[in-house]
Amino acid sequence: MNRLILPVLFAVLYQVHTLPLHTEEDEYLFKSWMSQYNNKYEINEYYQRLQTFLENKKKIERHNAGNHKFSMGLNQFSDMTFTEFKKSYLLTEPQNCSATRGNHVSSNGPYPDMIDWRTKGHYVTDVKNQGACGSCWTFSTTGCLESVTAIATGKLLQLAEQQLVDCAGAFDNHGCNGGLPSHAFEYIMYNKGLMTEQDYPYKAIQGECRFKPELAAAFVKDVVNITKYDEMGMVDAVARLNPVSLAYEVTSDFMHYRDGIYTSTKCHNTTDMVNHAVLAVGYAEQNGTPYWIVKNSWGTNWGINGYFYIERGKNMCGLAACSSYPLPLV
Ligand SMILES: *[C@@H]1O[C@H](CO)[C@@H](O)[C@H](O)[C@H]1NC(C)=O
Ligand SMILES: *[C@@H]1O[C@H](CO)[C@@H](O)[C@H](O)[C@H]1NC(C)=O
Ligand SMILES: *[C@@H]1O[C@H](CO)[C@@H](O)[C@H](O)[C@H]1NC(C)=O
Repeated sequence: MNRLILPVLFAVLYQVHTLPLHTEEDEYLFKSWMSQYNNKYEINEYYQRLQTFLENKKKIERHNAGNHKFSMGLNQFSDMTFTEFKKSYLLTEPQNCSATRGNHVSSNGPYPDMIDWRTKGHYVTDVKNQGACGSCWTFSTTGCLESVTAIATGKLLQLAEQQLVDCAGAFDNHGCNGGLPSHAFEYIMYNKGLMTEQDYPYKAIQGECRFKPELAAAFVKDVVNITKYDEMGMVDAVARLNPVSLAYEVTSDFMHYRDGIYTSTKCHNTTDMVNHAVLAVGYAEQNGTPYWIVKNSWGTNWGINGYFYIERGKNMCGLAACSSYPLPLV
């Protein structure tokens, strides 16, 4: 009799174990999330995504119940594991970004307690969305060149990430697999110009280079690197001159960021570990914690209307490992 019952029992236990454990309420939440982000799945994928979604939701709730400087929330990445997220959205090639001796020259201060280039004038374009392509470095680059050009000329242009994705390979950049703002600024300098978003629209996939010199709209005179780990040099540049491109390491907790000042004990802080590039548009301090105001390229639904705050003064996640900005040629 055992011979008959055992396999049946195992089969039943196995079924129970592998059945997705979720309530109707969970599924309702998942379905409204799906419609909010316009997601559709085949039936098999549906249960797998639901499972991942619920694991992320649990992680978010656990984090928010704890005592942290930042909160987490559901967003467009909530049906992905970090491994999947990393593959589609972050720099997958290791980057060589070490500026052992940068050429940024700091003043002696003093520096204002806070600065925000978004409110100083019309200097920062709206948050863009890189889509499923590791092209963050191109958005950090256009964001910075847009700002330095606007500060110099009073004209805020929208510049073309796609030109960098398609054309900047000779400067150690890799399209949707990654690159660095400092290398992209060098490409723009030697290439003699970057076109506008309108003339070279973004596609989130690498294609043939279609640069037209007669349509070049923004230019670089020189590239300025801030010496690696010199976070005060970044403060100096942002306080006195313009927003600054930076790179850092994104770990699994960052994917769910909602608001507050991001800090992590999981991330590394060295040049070889950076996997995401963004734009520091200002800094401030809250309840004794100094932070950077950073423009991301994951759309306006992510974080604080597309922005995030990250702790300042500790080289948090390597954010001072490879920062740079261009001098515009106007
Ligand atoms: C980094 O630099 C090394 C040596 O300069 C080179 O071999 C390697 O291909 C570079 N890696 C990337 C991702 O550019
Ligand atoms: C700036 O740093 C990059 C590495 O991120 C390096 O390739 C480049 O030569 C440096 N440029 C200057 C002007 O020092
Ligand atoms: C990185 O973090 C470690 C541990 O907190 C610290 O000792 C080290 O000085 C940091 N290195 C850099 C380059 O910031």
